[in-house]
Amino acid sequence: MCGIIGFSGKLDAKKVILEGLSTLEYRGYDSCGVCFFDPNGKFNIIKSTGKVSELIPKVDKEETSAVHVGIGHTRWATHGGVLTENAHPHHAGLVSLIHNGIIENYLSLREQFKLTGSLEGGTDTEIVANVLNLIYEKNGHDALLSIQMLTKIIKGTFAFLIMFEDRKEEIYAIKHVSPLVCASSSDGAFIASDITALIPYTKEFSVVEEGMVICAKRDSLVAYDIDTLKKVTLKKEEITWTIDTAKKDGYTHFMLKEIHEQGSSLDNTIRPRIVDGEIDFTNDNIDDEAIRFFKDIEKIQVVACGTALHAGKVGANVYQDVIKIPIDDYIASEYRYNNTLINDKTLVILLSQSGETIDTLASLEKAKEHGAKVISIVNVKGSTIARESDYVIYTHAGPEIAVASTKAYTVQVASIYMLLTYIAYVRNAVDKNFVNNICKNLFASIENIDKALKKEEDIKMIVKNISSSHDAFYIGRGLDYVFSLEGALKLKEISYIHTEAYAAGELKHGTIALIEEKTPVIAVCTQKNISSKLLSNVKEVKARDAYVILIISEDIEYEKDLADIVIKIDKVDDRFSVFPVAVITQLIAYYTAYDKGLDIDKPRNLAKSVTVE
Ligand code: G6P
Repeated sequence: MCGIIGFSGKLDAKKVILEGLSTLEYRGYDSCGVCFFDPNGKFNIIKSTGKVSELIPKVDKEETSAVHVGIGHTRWATHGGVLTENAHPHHAGLVSLIHNGIIENYLSLREQFKLTGSLEGGTDTEIVANVLNLIYEKNGHDALLSIQMLTKIIKGTFAFLIMFEDRKEEIYAIKHVSPLVCASSSDGAFIASDITALIPYTKEFSVVEEGMVICAKRDSLVAYDIDTLKKVTLKKEEITWTIDTAKKDGYTHFMLKEIHEQGSSLDNTIRPRIVDGEIDFTNDNIDDEAIRFFKDIEKIQVVACGTALHAGKVGANVYQDVIKIPIDDYIASEYRYNNTLINDKTLVILLSQSGETIDTLASLEKAKEHGAKVISIVNVKGSTIARESDYVIYTHAGPEIAVASTKAYTVQVASIYMLLTYIAYVRNAVDKNFVNNICKNLFASIENIDKALKKEEDIKMIVKNISSSHDAFYIGRGLDYVFSLEGALKLKEISYIHTEAYAAGELKHGTIALIEEKTPVIAVCTQKNISSKLLSNVKEVKARDAYVILIISEDIEYEKDLADIVIKIDKVDDRFSVFPVAVITQLIAYYTAYDKGLDIDKPRNLAKSVTVE
């Protein structure tokens, strides 16, 4: 969702802001804008619908002298259509600001401050700019006091960067729920919605915490407590990602690069936690208290959104009968409002690549309110979910730039496997042999991912029949059905082909009516115990002239002519076919979208980090 960058310092602010916006494009957006000072010291606000590449020539045309202070924004529309006037920054009098989040009481603020008539567009943010300007004028241009007063009357979620026309060097920042990070170096001070925009400039960053106001200047970065307006300390954290990890490295898209990185990211996730064939979470601060809690829990709830939810579902399915207590999985946007029973003997496992997804974060808060303990499996260091959880397991996958999640999924699966194995072991539900076997299979999966990647050329050849279709189906049974959910999500989100994942046995209760000649049906068949049943369902769709692609383990027998295309994966333990199947289904989605010439890394309407409900 909205990307935010602000800079005050020695460098060319135009360059820092525009490059920062290009880096943040991956979050997903539909319009963008910047604010600098013109040579007369007035705000120069430049906006555009569409891509940052459409904004850059506008900035180049308008700005002549060098600028050293500025803010920039990529907008993912919530309130108000995708129009230039609704793009940020929003300006009123001496205030120019950008915003990520939603201000819920914008209508009552409009009434209270009698703003009707003076507004250009339909956004909540424009109202906030006007309100802040009125407060600033009334309070002797005291920036900190005005921002403090603003935070007392706005309701909702926000990350704001604010410039005042009479404060030429300063950028102010506040946040509630929506994330912000900041950093300072000899070049100046930076504030951004996430650390990817900071990687070129610094190795250290600080999370802007709730209740802080930040003032960024050329030679200082100061945090104040919003209530007392006294200075507070910013905690420093290290950025371990390098500039190269956020580059395409010769691949046509980030998604393809990230698909190919899965072997090494899996290695990064498991190697530090597997010592002599046993799982060791000491470095993740899983302490004695956590172990005592694991022994005592009565149920586990796995909560996430999107691809992270599918990774969680895989874990919940595999370990249900291993830990021998109920493990249920929940869509976070449902969990946060439903009446599921949660108590102090509940362990909640959250999965989130970004660590900022608002529904997952709200689920965390709900779980804690009910006395549960929360472990999160997160990729982005210092993210809100990571900080708010009782325990965090970082997946160490490096930055995932493509909106469609790939490498984050496989490392999430590996992480939840390790975590649930560990819990099963400390509860005496499994023995050392079980643990050794899981560890061995996890390491073997690195190679199995690489073997699956070798199918890439074959997959390129088969996508034509999918890309020309309006609809497609994934079918599977048991775990293969769970893998199908992720396969279908991948295909629909980047190729825009309506794709349903169906439990194969359920097809005949309605959905088979949709199968016509040449309808692509991708059948996943890796679970040996149920493969014959799945293959019968494949026959049913084939009898209706579907175009069948069968992804099957090499040790499962099938009738010749059952499928139009067969993609074999190496024989692996059933629980570990998730890794090669993920690679194959990701490649099918990628090359289908490629064949259609679509914007694979930034699919329409989607955002990488979903920070609104
Ligand atoms: C968005 C992304 C998905 C992601 C989901 C959950 O929808 O486009 O790729 O799976 O959010 O995100 P999270 O960061 O919580 O894993």
